[in-house]
Amino acid sequence: CGNGGRMQKLYVAMVGLPARGKSTLAKRIRDGLVTEGIAAKLFNNGDMRRALIGAESTDPNFYDPNNKLGRDAREMICMRNMEIAREWLTKDGEVAILDATNVSRARRHLIETTLTDYPVLFVECVNEDQLLLNACIRRKTTLPEYASYTEEEALASFMKRISYYDTIYEPLQDEKYWLRVDSTANRILDERPCESSPYYPAIREMVVSVWIQCLYLARHGQTEFNLRGRIGGDPPLTATGRAQALALATHLRNKPIEWVFTSTRIRSHETATPLLTERPEAHAMAFKEFDEIWAGDCEGMLYSEIRERMPEVTQGRNASKYTYTYPNGESYALLRERVQRGLRRALFLAGDAPLIIVGHQAINRVLLSLFLRQRNEDVPFIYIPQNQYYHISLTPRRKVFERVPYDGGPGASLLAE
Ligand code: F6P
Repeated sequence: CGNGGRMQKLYVAMVGLPARGKSTLAKRIRDGLVTEGIAAKLFNNGDMRRALIGAESTDPNFYDPNNKLGRDAREMICMRNMEIAREWLTKDGEVAILDATNVSRARRHLIETTLTDYPVLFVECVNEDQLLLNACIRRKTTLPEYASYTEEEALASFMKRISYYDTIYEPLQDEKYWLRVDSTANRILDERPCESSPYYPAIREMVVSVWIQCLYLARHGQTEFNLRGRIGGDPPLTATGRAQALALATHLRNKPIEWVFTSTRIRSHETATPLLTERPEAHAMAFKEFDEIWAGDCEGMLYSEIRERMPEVTQGRNASKYTYTYPNGESYALLRERVQRGLRRALFLAGDAPLIIVGHQAINRVLLSLFLRQRNEDVPFIYIPQNQYYHISLTPRRKVFERVPYDGGPGASLLAE
């Protein structure tokens, strides 16, 4: 994308239907570039729309492509934002990020033909995961913009807005430079690279790397099954387990956790309950993906019973615990895919907000292995105590990986920068 030897600045224009993760990715690109010492700034059409037009633009008919008034207003906002972005790039700015839907070719053509001083890289966010879409849409309806709506009205209104955008949506194709990203998996689906831009490799890297501002990973508190060496099942916490859950909540009292993810099991819910009681504003979600390894025919049995009555299971696990699959159940190797899906969903939903996952022994081992890059055979032996949690933070600026005791005792800092 040559421009006659002048210093190469860049416009990044986001593309995607509402609730696809555009703003989270746009912020991440901005933060990543700023960390590298590059002057990057966001120009958000939605913020300008809310400031200039307000309540009228919450009405879904504002987005009807046949509503000329709405169309003109949105085009005016787009033009104004481009002007401000251009002014900023003309001065000290290096990368201006235009955060808007930009779903039609006509709109993108307008951007490419208006912003001719520097190359425009379009970054499209795609999200086909219906569960995440539904959750994101629900979350949008809690924004101040919908304060005067009931939840159901807000939902219907936002869905209608999306359906209007849907009618004019056209995927990237003819545009000069673009990246299409699966925003739930940090994966590039397709691209037309802007190879000569000095910022392109950095932006590409930010798009594919997993960023975790603050993740706590705890195991549920003690259950009767744990005490006796019984596996699986759906037991509640013991008195000790409930005390552990309280101690965890007390320990994390001053941490701004906004998302609490559990499995669908009672012991995981009960462990999360005191955390949630202290944070009525936090979002809570139970994922099947975080349910403990399914031991199939051995569910609910004691380890000692398995040894006596099904010695082939114990031998199989002793020989290769990672790959051994319980009869009619799962192996650690099989867990990997679903745990990874759960983590992806949790990280997508939380965006940059701090989150906690209250998992199980095998689940937490697999979760940790996704960060620690353990040898597979070591994964089923990772230490997952019930009175400690892991604290993980992985961003270009900060790498922390520590095990923290929440009811006394020593912890361990595995990696801290
Ligand atoms: O014992 C508690 C438990 O969570 C069981 O439900 C599960 O089967 C087990 O841990 C997983 O650990 P391991 O693979 O070491 O048996």
